[in-house]
Amino acid sequence: SDPLRLGIAGLGTVGAGVVKIVRQKATLLAERAGRPVVVSAVSARTRDKDRGVPLSSYAWEDDPVALATRDDVDVFVELMGGSDGPAKAAVEAALAAGKDVVTANKAMLAHHGQALAELAEANGAVLRFEAAVAGGIPVIKALTESLAGNDIQRVVGVMNGTCNYILTRMEDGGLTYEAAFAEADALGYLEADPTLDVGGIDAGHKLSLLAAIAFGTQVDFDAVELEGIGKVTIDDIRQAADMGFRIKLLGVSRMTGRGLEQSMAPCLVPAASPLGQLAGGTNMVVIEGDQVGQIVMRGAGAGEGPTASAVMGDVMDIARGLRVSTFGRPAGTLAGATPAKATAA
Ligand code: NDP
Ligand code: HSE
Repeated sequence: SDPLRLGIAGLGTVGAGVVKIVRQKATLLAERAGRPVVVSAVSARTRDKDRGVPLSSYAWEDDPVALATRDDVDVFVELMGGSDGPAKAAVEAALAAGKDVVTANKAMLAHHGQALAELAEANGAVLRFEAAVAGGIPVIKALTESLAGNDIQRVVGVMNGTCNYILTRMEDGGLTYEAAFAEADALGYLEADPTLDVGGIDAGHKLSLLAAIAFGTQVDFDAVELEGIGKVTIDDIRQAADMGFRIKLLGVSRMTGRGLEQSMAPCLVPAASPLGQLAGGTNMVVIEGDQVGQIVMRGAGAGEGPTASAVMGDVMDIARGLRVSTFGRPAGTLAGATPAKATAA
């Protein structure tokens, strides 16, 4: 069968991880997809940089837009980051050319996801972003596929690995904020602009995407009530521990009579609870559905392998011929998604 040909823009933590999987698991991927999955071309800011994986057999493009629209690219894999700028321009160019897009870019999707999804739909392209929420946890697939027979009542979770890592290292390891932050950086958890992490904004982006998927609304990031971990002191953490609690940056979304409620803020959780036990760069997403009851998903929320794993899941679905975008709605219905602030029925 014809190979599925990838163009990968962004060769940092996640992009290099994706190239490694495609190279190292070529046989397995081909068996599972029923066709080879190959890289045609790549792009990053700096060409001559050791990225821990050979790249010389791939075509190089300095311009991500040129990469996105190459004839030998079937799927544009956007792993550069940034809510606007080159990432958005290249994704738009790919979708306008009818090419499928896989991205991990929650900042772009939280601000422009609706417009990009409509562009994909108008051009018969697929737009998928499992990696954008909770790293390696397949939470989007769970919501859009496995739980499709449920009315979702609530989605709650820890969705930023950096914040969870910093908070738990400050408590367990007795580290200062700065030392814990440096460790998170070394593990590849941080956004290019880490104020997005510690300000709760990255977690808010993810919550707004999950909420839109769970409740069938348009993405409304501006409506998320946000507070980061910047004001959490070591004394707060110690006092919470003395009372049997831990502090977690916790997101909650639920549909109410006034529309969608979305909040992301530091919260006290019982130390002995599953949320309280969540350490390191781990994420946890709790979903409540009217039929299934409560589902708890837990796993690595950031870092090379887990995030590349989620990107590859989307790539493999496309390779197998699944023509469903992440927002999970059939063609022609996406533009009609309910605004998040509309009064619930
Ligand atoms: P990195 O900063 O490690 O890598 C970004 C890559 O994009 C680099 O290779 C960089 O090039 C390239 N790049 C940046 N700007 C441009 C540009 N203008 N033109 C061409 N290439 C460009 O980021 P990550 O890999 O950590 O993250 C990538 C995306 O994945 C982001 O959207 C992020 O939010 C998301 N994500 C990250 C996770 C993680 O754990 N790291 C988890 C989930 C999602 P160069 O290397 O030459 O500088
Ligand atoms: N910076 C993000 C985090 C990466 O720490 O969770 C994963 O989305």
